[in-house]
Amino acid sequence: MVKQADLKTDRFYKAAKEEGYRSRSAFKLLQISKKFKQIKAGDAVVDLGAAPGGWSQVAHELVGDRGVVISVDLQTIEKIEDVVVLTNDITNEEETIKAIKDALVSKGRDTADVVISDAAPQMSGNKDLDQFRSFELSTAALTIAVKLLKNNGNFVTKIFQGEYYPQFYRGVKEKFQITKAYAPEASRKRSAEVYVVGKGCKG
Ligand SMILES: C[S@@+](CC[C@H](N)C(=O)[O-])C[C@H]1O[C@@H](n2cnc3c(N)ncnc32)[C@H](O)[C@@H]1O
Repeated sequence: MVKQADLKTDRFYKAAKEEGYRSRSAFKLLQISKKFKQIKAGDAVVDLGAAPGGWSQVAHELVGDRGVVISVDLQTIEKIEDVVVLTNDITNEEETIKAIKDALVSKGRDTADVVISDAAPQMSGNKDLDQFRSFELSTAALTIAVKLLKNNGNFVTKIFQGEYYPQFYRGVKEKFQITKAYAPEASRKRSAEVYVVGKGCKG
């Protein structure tokens, strides 16, 4: 849990306020994208675990007017201009895939170019349980990505490092031509989170 006092001195929190991003996490996606260039203009991007919407704002900037962004969360996401928002549980994979496919079709697309996920469980304070729940969410994100991505599409997901992390990393490696792990500067130093990037979906 991040204390209010820590937020006041957090430069990414301040920058997010100044630049109109809904979350400091927006800078994590900016830093991941600067390094891996996984999102480009015109792309159709699916953002899983998207509330309050910082990543979706960044994705929308990166894809531009010709692109499409579809954002999914358990919680209601306040409207973002030109972004389709869906309220779904990503662990209910079949239903979520159907809802996203319908949204893609409504925007004239039949596949996604990029799937990104910053989904995180409600923290219980029990490290093992939180790692397991993070693994479950990342696994759901991978399943959804493989079903929606075009051949050669890209994937980014958060996962908490721990017992299940090597298994998850191997799973991404099986499905993508290039797999990397990255901790952006905007991730808090004490955080166990890491982002796994898969480039070039094998289809
Ligand atoms: C760290 S926040 C995402 C922040 C977001 N990337 C941003 O920049 O605003 C994690 C999100 O994952 C969502 N989440 C957790 N479990 C989920 C699930 N089963 N299905 C959909 N969303 C989920 C939470 O509701 C929460 O909004």
